[in-house]
Amino acid sequence: MDHLSEVLKILDGALRANASMAADYAGLLADKLEEGGNRQQARQIRERLARAPGALASVQDADRGISLNNLPVDGESRLHTVDVSRPEPRDVVLVLPNAIESRVHEFLASVRHHDALVAANAALPNRLLMHGLPGTGKTQLARWVAAQLGLQLLTVRCDTLVSSLLGQTSRNLRRVFEYAEQRPSVLFLDEFDALASARGNERDVGELQRVVIALLQNIDALPDSTILLAATNHDQLLDAAIWRRFSFRLPMPLPDDDVREVLWGRFLGDYAPINLDFKVLVARSEGLTGAVIEQICLDAKRSAVLAGKAQVDEDEVFRRLGLMLALIERVPLSTRDAEMAWLRRWDRKIFSLRVLAKLYGVSTRHVTNITQEGASDGHEEDDKQSG
Ligand SMILES: Nc1ncnc2c1ncn2[C@@H]1O[C@H](COP(=O)(O)OP(=O)(O)OP(=O)(O)O)[C@@H](O)[C@H]1O
Ligand SMILES: [Mg+2]
Repeated sequence: MDHLSEVLKILDGALRANASMAADYAGLLADKLEEGGNRQQARQIRERLARAPGALASVQDADRGISLNNLPVDGESRLHTVDVSRPEPRDVVLVLPNAIESRVHEFLASVRHHDALVAANAALPNRLLMHGLPGTGKTQLARWVAAQLGLQLLTVRCDTLVSSLLGQTSRNLRRVFEYAEQRPSVLFLDEFDALASARGNERDVGELQRVVIALLQNIDALPDSTILLAATNHDQLLDAAIWRRFSFRLPMPLPDDDVREVLWGRFLGDYAPINLDFKVLVARSEGLTGAVIEQICLDAKRSAVLAGKAQVDEDEVFRRLGLMLALIERVPLSTRDAEMAWLRRWDRKIFSLRVLAKLYGVSTRHVTNITQEGASDGHEEDDKQSG
């Protein structure tokens, strides 16, 4: 049978006397039937929904991505624990190395053809765990998946679920899962390690164990068709039992050369300098995350806009890149002279005396002075950096 998972959800809603759940999934079923060319059946469902005004209101809300009714809140702070959004494909740029990209597509295909896979006894639960350094695109991937599937994204910052009140964390968790189950959505547990840290951590072992157990129970109670994503920077903190619950595990790597080239191009957009040497840019940005590249591009674009220029200056892009690397390596650059000295040392070819003089609006003689022996300001820092 086609669309069995939607039909089962509608049945669940009916059995639990949960009209909004039944209506939400009936709406999704109508959408899918229409996509599959069954206009007539879709219309019949929508007409039936229209006759139940209360339920319909909720479907319309969900359609606009604003089904804020009964958003779960933390029992202690009363703050919302779930953020509802509806990312659009055109708004979500995601570039991944090709092997990782194939695995993401495999996950999407598995979600889209869940019913067929169930019928063939070959289905995996729709659960994906992403792990990798900050800024490698984990949250972006969650947005991308929701956008591709046309579903709303329910983002849970797991640290906000953790309550100081005994037992409250598990209750928060339960509410989030219940909320997610009631509507067609992608449930995304971000900063997942805040909840899923290994059992047997030093602090308050008892409560932590209860939380991990509650998490396992909640995941186990989910139907396989529910789309669950989770992301963490600290995969080594995750409990082995949690790992096992995720049928798809995705390491989010640093962008490789090809990906960096695309990212630089995308993020600079129309502001890219005409003759920008992407090869050099790619080589010199090895080891940077997509988030850092985006940041550099935004900064460079901002300065171009403020200076009334239609394009970013090539030297300015490299200058921002060089300074960002200093920041990452924690090299303190408190003066413009120190910046020049650092840039000169970082890449003598890009930062010729002439280029530095132009960028900083000083004479080449000044640059010569500060980048060589007998220099003033920058020199002290030179010693610290090389030492
Ligand atoms: N592979 C990528 N493709 C496109 N954009 C990227 C990529 N990686 C990072 N970015 C950009 O960097 C920004 C930050 O990425 P994101 O928030 O997804 O990182 P994260 O892995 O979730 O980091 P954290 O662990 O700190 O939460 C995104 O808004 C996106 O614009
Ligand atoms: Mg993130």
